Amino acid sequence: MISHEEIESRVSGHSSRFICTANHGFAPYAQEELRRKFGSVKSTVLVPGEIFLGTLDVSVGEATERLRMEQPIFLRHIFPVQYQIGIVNGDKENAMEQLVACLKHLHELHDAHVTVQARKASHQCWDGTSNDLKEAVQMGISDVVKEFVVKDAERIVSVLVTENAMFTGISAPRDNLSDWNGGAVRFQKEEGQISRAKFKLLEAEKVFGIDFASFRDALDIGAAPGGWTSFLLERGLRVTAVDPAKMHPSLMASERLTYLQKNADSVKFRDNQFDLLVCDMSWSPKLTAKLVTGLLYSLSPGGTAVVTVKLLSKKPLALIKEVMDTFENAHMQIQRAKQLFHNRDEITLYMIKY
Ligand SMILES: C[S@@+](CC[C@H](N)C(=O)[O-])C[C@H]1O[C@@H](n2cnc3c(N)ncnc32)[C@H](O)[C@@H]1O
Repeated sequence: MISHEEIESRVSGHSSRFICTANHGFAPYAQEELRRKFGSVKSTVLVPGEIFLGTLDVSVGEATERLRMEQPIFLRHIFPVQYQIGIVNGDKENAMEQLVACLKHLHELHDAHVTVQARKASHQCWDGTSNDLKEAVQMGISDVVKEFVVKDAERIVSVLVTENAMFTGISAPRDNLSDWNGGAVRFQKEEGQISRAKFKLLEAEKVFGIDFASFRDALDIGAAPGGWTSFLLERGLRVTAVDPAKMHPSLMASERLTYLQKNADSVKFRDNQFDLLVCDMSWSPKLTAKLVTGLLYSLSPGGTAVVTVKLLSKKPLALIKEVMDTFENAHMQIQRAKQLFHNRDEITLYMIKY
């Protein structure tokens, strides 16, 4: 076990430790992003392909500031590690007592509105659910915090329990890259929801802060069965949906929907006809970029595009750069490139035409 003093000195000095999370299988790319940004990064894998402990040669403040200014694509969530408590001889209760005592030392916690976010690295490492774990932490620190809140916390207390250690740290929500626990943005499945793909656009709305209701005319390329189209119709837009496959029957009654049952390479529109273009084709990324740039004449200047890019390559970072270059050469300014929680083997590009 590393002593509290040792951890604290690391945190306040020119090095910092973070629990870093990416979508399953994409942690190696998140590690590469950190290496490119900060030079040497020491990594210890905690959940293969997904969660690692990263040590950076910069302070917590500098690391979070630089990550916030230039957001990574694959690194979904971070929290600073202020304390690492070893679980000795499997005695988790004792480790929890130590963790609570350590947290109470941190003055940022005192009299603050706090959210506790707790995760388990595997089923075995804590008897009970993640919610039970969260409640155990809350109970321990309830006498020093002002209030536990679900929204608008001043401080987030993060806890990750592995087989042999508990990691914890306190941060402002904006310093964690995502204010959701581990960056896992969860939505309730609605009754009659047409596809899970809808969650990707819901998440893009939240994470990128896109006000979809502010658009009027959307082009949805690769629209079937219609999850994204249904979302845009719900936001009050007129939607032109293009797909050779069938749209869900429940959408067809909408007067604001124009459905072209065609391949996207054989459709023609007016110049500047749309102020929003979305594309979720699950297709070759380079061909998708070529096809979408070929339709950009129909997007008005200042218009927004949201495009998913499949990562079919063993070198996703190089592929993403190539695809982004294609869009940038077509007068698209990339606002964000991000692997959203609901993206599988893909990322989402949010762009504005200039
Ligand atoms: C992942 S699904 C889209 C899901 C959709 N966003 C939703 O929310 O329901 C991909 C769709 O892209 C369509 N597609 C693939 N290539 C296409 C092309 N060249 N032109 C138009 N649609 C295409 C497929 O037919 C398929 O329906």
